[in-house]
Amino acid sequence: MESIWTESCLIKEREPLKGNIEAEIAVIGAGLAGLLAASALQKAGRRTIVLEANRIASGQTRNTTAKITSQHGMIYRRLIDTVGKSKARQYAMANEAAVETYRRLIAEENIDCSFKERSAFVYGNDGKELEAEAEAASSLGLPASFVRETALPFPTAGAVRFAHQAQFHPLQFIDHIARPLTVYENTSALRVEDDQIETTGGQVRAKQIVFACHYPFVNFPGMYFARMHQERSYVLALESASRVDGMWIGSGEGAFSFRNYKDLLLLGGGGHRCGENRAGGKYELLRKMAKSWFPDSREIAHWSAQDCVSADGIPYIGRYAESRPNWYVATGFHKWGMTSAMASAMLLRDLICGRENPYADVFAPDRFDAKTLTGIAAEGGQAVKGLAKELFQIPAERAAEIPGGHGGVVLLHGEKVGVYKTEDGRLYPVDIRCPHLGCQLEWNPDERSWDCPCHGSRFDRFGHLISGPAQEDLAHG
Ligand code: FES
Repeated sequence: MESIWTESCLIKEREPLKGNIEAEIAVIGAGLAGLLAASALQKAGRRTIVLEANRIASGQTRNTTAKITSQHGMIYRRLIDTVGKSKARQYAMANEAAVETYRRLIAEENIDCSFKERSAFVYGNDGKELEAEAEAASSLGLPASFVRETALPFPTAGAVRFAHQAQFHPLQFIDHIARPLTVYENTSALRVEDDQIETTGGQVRAKQIVFACHYPFVNFPGMYFARMHQERSYVLALESASRVDGMWIGSGEGAFSFRNYKDLLLLGGGGHRCGENRAGGKYELLRKMAKSWFPDSREIAHWSAQDCVSADGIPYIGRYAESRPNWYVATGFHKWGMTSAMASAMLLRDLICGRENPYADVFAPDRFDAKTLTGIAAEGGQAVKGLAKELFQIPAERAAEIPGGHGGVVLLHGEKVGVYKTEDGRLYPVDIRCPHLGCQLEWNPDERSWDCPCHGSRFDRFGHLISGPAQEDLAHG
């Protein structure tokens, strides 16, 4: 099902690339990060083009809950502990500057995108922990304070409140930002070598190349696959639910999120690592909670989102790899794509234009210390787990046991394959090895998709690519 943003905003279609072109800067990906970067570079006088495999904002941008905030959950105490106060402050101020830049841009350009100033809260059940988090965030210069009362329909120990944050309609904003830009839609970047991008529509030659395509698909150099995974989460749009007066997220595992948009309430939750939802039931969980907290509400839409998570929880924004000084990357935004996209646009513009940026160090993709390396090892462990599973496990399910409208990993004619069975019993077998790096895919019953636990590539039930880092459809099994 489409998100409420997609249903309420049509963005004009653009032509695909036809033939070979040259540009000063080529941005791969026309989501929020790519378009903001292209816009900032264009305004700085750099001739910039954008390549998009599908349509503008057809990736994760259309599935966000669109909270513009530096309140990113209970992170600031952890950041101070892990990267030190100076870099934690860089992270905080980069995101606060992003909130402010949205506010200024939307006012200056009179962008009609339902922009509303709101407080952002993280709620929890441990008052002392919340107070300590508020203190840590405040010590970094953030507008944070502890509040005991919340507007939520269940008891809590309170919340950390960030004042002067905001929310908007992301596609109405993007529609405005994209208008003056040269965007080639339905143009997939297939290969990138030095200053050349081979696409489905022709060759692009660019002095600088920005990878803003959610998950970087060039494996070497950079090795982003070894230090990033993806997480999924689910959203219901409810009408006739009570208002929650702000934007909310819970602390800890299994937490829920809340925000209003016009008369609707967006209830989010059910998060899990991509490829680890064999039992399903995430939308059902949200429906159960909606019934309990907002008994008079009615669901009018549901959708899901996917986020890239870096090894240390901080985005990778900057040079792609030491050996490619003209490549840049913006990825690993976790659940905080709105401010991270704006922060990355400002940072990449400054890097490319040779300007100082006060927040460059904390986001540098080549940062490594002992703690980060531990995280990287954990990412690698997950990948190995996926590969090992493919090699040694025997599928428990058989095609005959898969109910109509579902999928599973089975032995079919002696071969291990993924099978989707239609409601009327037709079988669609696919090669269950992920074309990215060969991990075994898992069936996601909530989305009826094949999802990869290693780096988060997804394919629809017939094997067509939904999102990378894989770049091709599944082979038929
Ligand atoms: Fe990397 Fe599947 S996404 S192996």
